[in-house]
Order: sequence, then structure tokens, then C-alpha cells
Amino acid sequence: MKRIHQFASDNYSGICPEAWAAMAEANTGHEVNYGNDTWTQRATDAIREIFETDCEVFFVFNGTAANSLSLAALCQSFHSILCHELAHVETSECGAPEFFANGSKLLSLQGGEGKIDPAEIERAVNKRTDIHYPKPRALSLTQATETGTVYTPAEIKALAEAARKFGLRVQMDGARFANAIASLNVAPADITWRAGVDVLCFGGTKNGIGIGEAVVFFDRELARDFDYRCKQGGQLASKMRFLSAPWLGLLQDGAWLRHACHANAMAKLLEAGLRKISGVKISFPVQSNAVFANIPKPAEAELRARGWRFNTGGVTTGDSRLMCSWDTTPEDVAALVADVREVSA
Ligand SMILES: Cc1ncc(COP(=O)(O)O)c(C=O)c1O
Repeated sequence: MKRIHQFASDNYSGICPEAWAAMAEANTGHEVNYGNDTWTQRATDAIREIFETDCEVFFVFNGTAANSLSLAALCQSFHSILCHELAHVETSECGAPEFFANGSKLLSLQGGEGKIDPAEIERAVNKRTDIHYPKPRALSLTQATETGTVYTPAEIKALAEAARKFGLRVQMDGARFANAIASLNVAPADITWRAGVDVLCFGGTKNGIGIGEAVVFFDRELARDFDYRCKQGGQLASKMRFLSAPWLGLLQDGAWLRHACHANAMAKLLEAGLRKISGVKISFPVQSNAVFANIPKPAEAELRARGWRFNTGGVTTGDSRLMCSWDTTPEDVAALVADVREVSA
């Protein structure tokens, strides 16, 4: 059966109407190239307004580039980057952070529910201090995390303080930053620069944009020559307005938060439905748009035979990751829950 909406990833969804309308509006007449256009200026200003600070903003094509280039901006080749063992930069970016940082090594940290345990920072830094060990220089946090949990402002502050104690800079992979804000209901500044984050990779794709993420430097000094890094890394769009205009559409009038709140609410609905099915176990607190569920193997196979697409074992062994998007409907959720119930009977 061909299904219109799936739960395999939040990037299965299309472009939200607000981003689409801004793209269409940008598609009239000629504009200056390489980011020197009015759309890029307005989108940058919109991000500054949301974060209540005069940050430096760069629009790039995807999250791997945003993470890799921002980490490269913090490190020299002999440095190391601390991150959770499940972090996307560690597990799913094909070594791009190490590649773009010319060999900086990722060191993985432990912590329950996808969150770094602050004590792990001290352990990793003090594990070795000799010349033969790559010098720890950056901490990378994912917000919302790869398991769908969300760091509180206090947790981020504690991690940033622990990092600062050892001279580490703090980068945040915010592929699902909007979902985290929707979940916490705090000001974006409260979980970024006010909590000690130096640079954020602000995710647009999973929030409803077609292509693109924004790299937001709160410490402007770290952004020095980042435009050259983007160009060299193949991330300077010549028709930049088509990367930036959708951001303006998304950010204006709060569409980004509406969509994130909706996706989170659909995840809650899915969780509630699945919790009523015996044999199905929810693996992590549902705090954003992800539901991790342990579904018996024969039931999983039957769901796939019924046309459902979802990933199992990608982040954690055995769990199926079910992602909700800006356009997931209560009917989609009900249909999946009904099928899980039937195949689990
Ligand atoms: C936590 C996280 N970070 C970053 C990304 C961005 O990856 P991509 O390079 O596919 O845009 C993803 C996408 O799945 C992600 O889940």
C-alpha cells in the first residue's frame, strides 16, 4: 500500500507552505548573488531577532556541512571534539567533521537517554594530558538529542560550565532545535548563548524547509573567515536567496514554532497510542518529535509489508525510530497505531 505520510524520518516531509510561499516570492526578477541579497539580509536579521543578539549567520545546504564546518572553525587539526556516543557527528556524518577539521578527532562520551553526563567531560579531558593525545577543544551537544530527549536550560548550562572549565568551546547540533524550543517553551537564547553555547547549527530541513540549515555564531570572533570555509567546503550557494528566503517564511509569524509544536504533539499522540499495546515498549521519554519503540520483530515485518517505512536499529539496537513532521496528521498516527495493534495481537 502506498502511504502519503511516513514515520521513517522528519525529512520525508515536503516543504511547509510558509517556506514555499517565500521561495515563490523570491523567484521574481533578478537578485544579487552569493548571499549579498536582501532575502539573506532579512533572514539573518530574523534570526538575530529570535536569538535577541547580534549573532553572525551563514546559510548552508545541510546539517552535515553545518556541523562539520562549525566544528572545524573551533579546532585545529591536533584538537579533539567531545560528543555523545550516539551523536550524529559521530555516527552519521561519514567522518565529515574530522575531514573538514583536517583530522581533529571525535572522542565519544556516555550518558543516559542520549544526553551527555557532565562528569564525562572531566573524565575525557583528564584521561590523558600528554602530547600524544589530541587536545580537547570543543564539546558538541545535540538539541533535541538523537533519542528524542531534550536538555533543559540548566543541563546545558552545567555542560557548558564543565566545558569552559577546561577551555572547551561549545557547539550545538540543533537539527531539531525548533522541536526543543517547542518542548521547553523557553526563549531560544536561554538554551544557547545565555547558557554558554558558542555556535548553533539551527536546523531548517526538519522544521519544514526544503534544503538548508543556518550556522549561528554567538561568539562573532569564532566566525572570522567562516565565509571562506563555506566557499571552500562547497557551501556557498550562488543563488543564496533560495536558501535564505524559506527561512524568512518559516520564522516570520512563528511558523517554525507552530510546526515544531505540531510535530511534537503528534509524537505524544503516537506515544499514547503505542503505550496501550501490549508487547510494545517505549524506549525513551518522548520530549520532541521522535518516538522510539521496541516492537516485536514479526510485528515490525508485518508493518513493513503493510507499507510502513521506519528505521530500526539506526540509533539504538532493537528500537524502531518513529519520527513526526510538521505535516503528520492525527489520522496518520491513528492509522499506524491501528496497524501496530493489529499486527501485535
Ligand atoms: C541530530 C542530527 N544532526 C544533523 C542532521 C543533519 O544531517 P544532514 O546532513 O542529512 O542534513 C541530522 C539528520 O538526520 C540529525 O538527525
